Amino acid sequence: MRALRKLLKKTSFYPTYKALGHYPDYWYWLLRGKPTRIPHIVKQKTVEQFGKRYGLKTLIETGTYYGEMVSGLKNDFTRIISIEFDPPLAAAAKRKFGKARHIEILQGSSELMVQQTLASLTEPAMFWLDAGYFLWAGEHKTTDRLTTELDSIFRHSVPNHVVLIDDVVSWSGRDGTPEVTDLERDLNLRYPERKITVESGLMCIRHAEYL
Ligand SMILES: C[S@@+](CC[C@H](N)C(=O)[O-])C[C@H]1O[C@@H](n2cnc3c(N)ncnc32)[C@H](O)[C@@H]1O
Repeated sequence: MRALRKLLKKTSFYPTYKALGHYPDYWYWLLRGKPTRIPHIVKQKTVEQFGKRYGLKTLIETGTYYGEMVSGLKNDFTRIISIEFDPPLAAAAKRKFGKARHIEILQGSSELMVQQTLASLTEPAMFWLDAGYFLWAGEHKTTDRLTTELDSIFRHSVPNHVVLIDDVVSWSGRDGTPEVTDLERDLNLRYPERKITVESGLMCIRHAEYL
């Protein structure tokens, strides 16, 4: 199965194959009693619900990949900015969403691009941070980039952005990644004015005053 997926990854059919797998993946996850690795559909629903709950019209995503989150939520936000480091992936996403005027794909590293994007924000936004902060494609990452981005977001003139971070639970403690409880404690110390929770396997950070 792994070899087949590796082979498919080299074809232009791969994004479609991935998208077609979302619901079967979700049903299989339910069948297995909801294990730690959260299916994409649940992530999409969670981002959508947080956006609705806090009346957020703008979605900022780090890590576009094949644009699955953008596709899933394109009708739920009036402005979507997605940041992708990998030039071919960014170019493919630009082609895919080229006709959607409310969607912007930016190529570059998220730690710089998040800062750049914040300069254009005057209202609170939903941040979906998913740019391989922990383990990505077999590479070990540090959480420095994540905290650089969180610092930019929380120092911004708009105080009530809402942040959801992917993979904190599914990678917790695996292969040198931080334990989710340690990460939560560290972030609590760093951002004492924020409320940090783990919901549907994702870490959520909001300003305690605006809940
Ligand atoms: C888990 S995938 C993102 C999945 C996507 N957000 C979704 O929900 O469908 C991680 C993506 O982050 C990208 N990435 C890794 N490092 C990055 C960086 N420093 N800046 C921006 N994107 C990065 C990878 O190339 C990959 O496309």
